[in-house]
Amino acid sequence: MKNIDSFTHVRGESLFVNDLILRHDALFGLCFDSPKAHGKIKSVDYSVAEAVEGVVKIFTYKDVLGENQIGGIIQDEPLWAEDEVHFWGQPIAFIVAESDAIAKKARSLISIEIEDLPVITTAKQAKEKGSFINAPRSFNLGDTKAAFEDCDYVFSGETFSNGQEHLYLETQGCYAVPLENGNIKLTSSTQGPTQVQKTAARVLGVPMHKIEVDVIRLGGGFGGKEDQATPWAVMTAVAVQHLNRPVKYMLNRHDDMRMTGKRHPYSSFYKIGLTKDLKIKAFEAEFLQNAGAAADLSPAIAERTLFHATNSYFVPNVSTTVLSCKTNLPPNTAFRGFGGPQGMFVIESAIAEAAEKMGVNRRSIQEANLLDEDDAFSYGQIAKQAEARSSWFSAKEKFELETLEAAVKIFNEKNKWKKQGIALMPICFGISFTNTPMNHARALIHIYQDGSVGVSTGAVEMGQSVNTKMLQVAQSILGISADKLKIETTNTTRVANTSPSAASSTADLNGKAVEMACNALIGRLSTVAAKEFLVLEKEISFQEDMVFVNGKKSDLTWEDLVMKAMLQRVALSENAHYATPIINFDKTKEKGHPFAYHVYGTAITTVTVDCLRGIYEIDWVKIVHDFGKSMNMGIDLGQVEGALAQGIGWMTLEEIAYNEEGRLLSNALSTYKVPDIFSAPKTIETIPLETEGSELAIKKSKAVGEPPLMYGIGTYFAIQEAVKAFNPNYELKFHAPFTPEKVLMGLYEGS
Ligand code: MTE
Ligand code: HPA
Ligand code: MOS
Repeated sequence: MKNIDSFTHVRGESLFVNDLILRHDALFGLCFDSPKAHGKIKSVDYSVAEAVEGVVKIFTYKDVLGENQIGGIIQDEPLWAEDEVHFWGQPIAFIVAESDAIAKKARSLISIEIEDLPVITTAKQAKEKGSFINAPRSFNLGDTKAAFEDCDYVFSGETFSNGQEHLYLETQGCYAVPLENGNIKLTSSTQGPTQVQKTAARVLGVPMHKIEVDVIRLGGGFGGKEDQATPWAVMTAVAVQHLNRPVKYMLNRHDDMRMTGKRHPYSSFYKIGLTKDLKIKAFEAEFLQNAGAAADLSPAIAERTLFHATNSYFVPNVSTTVLSCKTNLPPNTAFRGFGGPQGMFVIESAIAEAAEKMGVNRRSIQEANLLDEDDAFSYGQIAKQAEARSSWFSAKEKFELETLEAAVKIFNEKNKWKKQGIALMPICFGISFTNTPMNHARALIHIYQDGSVGVSTGAVEMGQSVNTKMLQVAQSILGISADKLKIETTNTTRVANTSPSAASSTADLNGKAVEMACNALIGRLSTVAAKEFLVLEKEISFQEDMVFVNGKKSDLTWEDLVMKAMLQRVALSENAHYATPIINFDKTKEKGHPFAYHVYGTAITTVTVDCLRGIYEIDWVKIVHDFGKSMNMGIDLGQVEGALAQGIGWMTLEEIAYNEEGRLLSNALSTYKVPDIFSAPKTIETIPLETEGSELAIKKSKAVGEPPLMYGIGTYFAIQEAVKAFNPNYELKFHAPFTPEKVLMGLYEGS
């Protein structure tokens, strides 16, 4: 099945927040944000701005009737700054005016006086100053101290991976409308409708039922709208509460880039110990996460770094610690992979360093340590249906690695000014929210009396095509054609208390709830049909919009059966609740079984570096990926390719830069380079690994949203190999992204 949105997308008919027809009395909001990264607010003068014709009101923390607090995990983030600012771009006030242009003009007329306080921009500085978000976390397995003693080789080093701008095509935004009796409806571009509802209720000081949040779809989220869609929605809600008129606020690209958090930069230290037979005996790492000025989702992201610190390898002795460092950057947040990629980059770097020093191929160390069935992860979960080895060897075999390596060797012998490099990148990613209580979802299904069906879930469509998957699940159980099914908007009045659409788990969690609701409806309809045909319920089935009896098509249509059920007063609506079984995690011991299952795969990447200019091309990426039993290969391949491109961008081109004062320099698309068609791999070939799939995956179709991003890490090491082929004096560095500038310096260092 094609993505059900594809036609309306192509015709430009799909609706986003910015497409809504506004009520005649709608107003426009705009944030006034801090022009300093850290300081005491001495005074703000709004008088000139307020006097501009068409400015209705300028809101500040003083207008908050509930709590001026939007922190989720930790209560450390005001909606609007009070007497101090902690990052450049921190919201201070919210201008509401008759038009966007008026609001913009008013913003330029606000003057502010800030007394500077010291600015911290890096995690290392924060650690030196003891500036942290919360207490450190550690995962341990075995005894690394003793194990290092037994190692033939021990290496240690340092790595850095930079942040990443989400660059969703649709910027953050919300349209808020007053209903009667102080009720407010928010149409928000959020991955977490309940998070918006709950936070708005708290800030407004009203019960949650006064706030309705509706989400049509997102023009991309990538984690950037898991928590950070909330403040803008809440600001519009506060304005509606005071003004009783609709208020819309869409951030422009500059404002969005400046004010929102990004992927967390990490500075990390590792120590790796190996034996002569290339086995990794011990691994230690300290991860310094640059959390920014408030917690946001940082503690959860830090946790996932620890979960993925050994990637798809079995290491018997592990000691890993993560520190969430508090800095004066915008609070960094979820981004596809959720801390996992940052963790995996470190062990891949450690392996590269070990291989270099030991004079062996990086791939041979990777291969010698791949996880096997029943191996333990550092957090206690035992690997089941472990596909680390099968995907690795299948990639080697299917893509004829030896031939590829030989071709690279010949190319490098023949070419003086161009060099190629090749890298393998295995992945292993745990599926479930690491916070066990979040793993639940609901579906509400109505069969209307004409036989058409409406499906509501907590799933937010953000381009990952979850709505298409929900439709497929319902269709396969109800046995009706797709045009009888409609996937409704995601709305807190139909499906409440949702977890955000995230952790790659949206289709699994919501799909299982859809499955349960459909099965319950089919059960009741089978009773009606069985009575009609004087057969047992189990002899009834539903296919092709018809009732089947004992596998044979009857003359009773779906529509007629639904009408019969209606006349017999049978319930045609169902609400189902699903909670992932089995999973658990004990944070006091840092052990448990947090993931429903893992997703595996292996990518082979080849790059060609232009050794005069430092630029490079990615020739191809060849992937064997564990889809389980994919329920929609077109969609899933799209997810692999999109995630890969994002991973490559993070590792190669996308360079976030803040100056020492904490001002974002890469604040526009002219200064922040994302992969375009020229920087995409020339070919991407993805082969599904043949596996059974997992019972906990929807229809055994494994989660696919985030895992393939980490294939992009292979690009870093392929480039590194090419640089080394040109310049044997190059000393390995692990400082991502590997921009053409850094490549050029690497090509000529030491000569
Ligand atoms: N694909 C598109 N097109 N747009 C997105 O915003 N978000 C990614 C991934 N794929 C995203 C996407 C992220 S960060 C996650 S967690 C998953 O989709 C969420 O959706 P899922 O749980 O349905 O996989
Ligand atoms: N992944 C993604 N988003 C999340 C998670 C997670 O594990 N936990 C909370 N939000
Ligand atoms: Mo995805 S980073 O879990 O929204």
